[in-house]
Amino acid sequence: MRLSDEPLLHTAEIAARVVELAAEIRHAYGEATFTVVVVLKGAAWFGADLVRLLPPTTTVEFIRAKSYVGDRSAGPPEFALFPESGITDQHVLLVEDILDTGHTLAAVCERLLKVCPASIKTCVLLDKPSRREIAVDVQFRGFEIDDHFVVGYGLDYNEQYRALPAIYRMLPE
Ligand code: IMP
Ligand code: MG
Repeated sequence: MRLSDEPLLHTAEIAARVVELAAEIRHAYGEATFTVVVVLKGAAWFGADLVRLLPPTTTVEFIRAKSYVGDRSAGPPEFALFPESGITDQHVLLVEDILDTGHTLAAVCERLLKVCPASIKTCVLLDKPSRREIAVDVQFRGFEIDDHFVVGYGLDYNEQYRALPAIYRMLPE
């Protein structure tokens, strides 16, 4: 696999959309305080940019879900880290990098529900709707993309390319 020459989404496009998403989120929550739960590793970049535009009372937790090997989903995700405290009775905004089949987000929601948050809303930077296998409720969505494997801005291919500031497609050699 190799990187596309041109980004699919440029840094300025991503940054502008993050500003819009933050405005939508602030509007939806109004005066209510909430906890952002960032799904590691991929959403760390998006989450860090997003929370800087949210109210200063916003708290942040992390959950690690790993399900991908190469460009294939490897079944149900494993949770390597979980914030047991800081979630119960809180309004939770789950922040994920990309929604593909939907299995990861569904499993993360199921896991979070066990610690009884007051509510859960979800925010994804990218959505590949054509790949969905399980229905997931998403309230805030950055971009809909076609069925490409993408990297950069936190997204990886075998752990590489997360550091790219823009989002690129991976192409066959
Ligand atoms: P799902 O469980 O199939 O919805 O996959 C979601 C997870 O798979 C995301 O959290 C990503 O880590 C990973 N993933 C899905 N599509 C891509 C992609 O195009 N590039 C990089 N990671 C991806
Ligand atoms: Mg991920």
